[in-house]
Amino acid sequence: MSRRISGFKPTGPLQLGNYVGAIRPVVRGQHEQPTVVFIADLHALTVPHDPVLLQARSREVAGLLLAAGVDPDHALLYRQSDVAAHLELHYLLECVTSYGEAHRMIQFKEKGGGGGSRLSLLTYPVLMAADILLHDIDEVPVGRDQRQHVELTRDLAVRFNERYGATFTVPEAVHPEVAARIADLADPARKMGKTNASTAGVLFLLDKPDVLRRKIMRAVTDAGTEVVYDPDGKPGVANLLDILGALTDRDPREIAAEHEKNGYGGLKARLADAVIATLEPIQRRYHELTDEEIEAVLAKGAERAAERAGRTVRRTKAALGLTGGRRAPAGSPATPATAGRPS
Ligand code: TYM
Repeated sequence: MSRRISGFKPTGPLQLGNYVGAIRPVVRGQHEQPTVVFIADLHALTVPHDPVLLQARSREVAGLLLAAGVDPDHALLYRQSDVAAHLELHYLLECVTSYGEAHRMIQFKEKGGGGGSRLSLLTYPVLMAADILLHDIDEVPVGRDQRQHVELTRDLAVRFNERYGATFTVPEAVHPEVAARIADLADPARKMGKTNASTAGVLFLLDKPDVLRRKIMRAVTDAGTEVVYDPDGKPGVANLLDILGALTDRDPREIAAEHEKNGYGGLKARLADAVIATLEPIQRRYHELTDEEIEAVLAKGAERAAERAGRTVRRTKAALGLTGGRRAPAGSPATPATAGRPS
């Protein structure tokens, strides 16, 4: 059965793109498929950060994941920095990554990467590869923005296996059918993101209902008044239809047909209702959770994650000829590493 992983960077409060693009697919699949969900707090160190805020945000992300339905009895939920194997595998994988490969990653440029940025901003896609390969993952359900990183992960896994023997499962990215990339409501050319400079077009999972409604009613729409699904010609309206389609499991074109006559206002009001109906119960559950409950779940998750991740690191070290592992004598062709993929 294919194993899935999802990671959430605690660089800001979670927003609707995270929910539709990643959280919901995870929650829906967790009873059928082995699932790993983690708070990617090490990734939050790639840009300037406030330690106190980071700690609070990590807990908030964990709480929201639980409130949104991640079930720790089914999914493995933990905080990345609690499991040192991420750092160990990160370095080992850097040794099969070229500088050019890391430099080509779009997000380095998008996040303003240059001479003054943290070195970790350049290498974080390799840390992401480590996150995935540690757990023998088959499928990575992510929004489109993360596709290139999963491609890099595949390249590294294949290269490592060819060079040093079968060690890693080669994963693939899977995207939700609708709304794999939700756009900012105030600027449909941009992705909705937790760190967007203006929050006017970002629907945060913890925004109050009146704030959500106001942001939606003020969403930038396109010229004309007719509701049609045309992502190139009418990206603003298409985005609203995509979000509504994703939240109600409907085809955005069908919804457009229903709103053809009553204009943008009617569509926005319906979207506001759907967003509020989705987020209200999540917010209620979130506010009921205590810090102790959240930390207890994370501590238990870290223990379980460390076991599997530790096995992967041992296998990788053995393949590389590092301490402790059994390795074929030098000069012999690469053989599979001592252990295969754990069942
Ligand atoms: P992050 O924290 O930016 O986003 C978490 C997840 O939410 C998805 N997402 C979106 N999907 C649709 N529309 C949007 N506007 C939108 N915004 C965010 C992202 O695609 C992602 O699935 N590098 C990752 C975290 C990470 C990770 C991993 C993910 C670290 N290691 C290993 C998967 C596997 C990130 O920055 O996600």
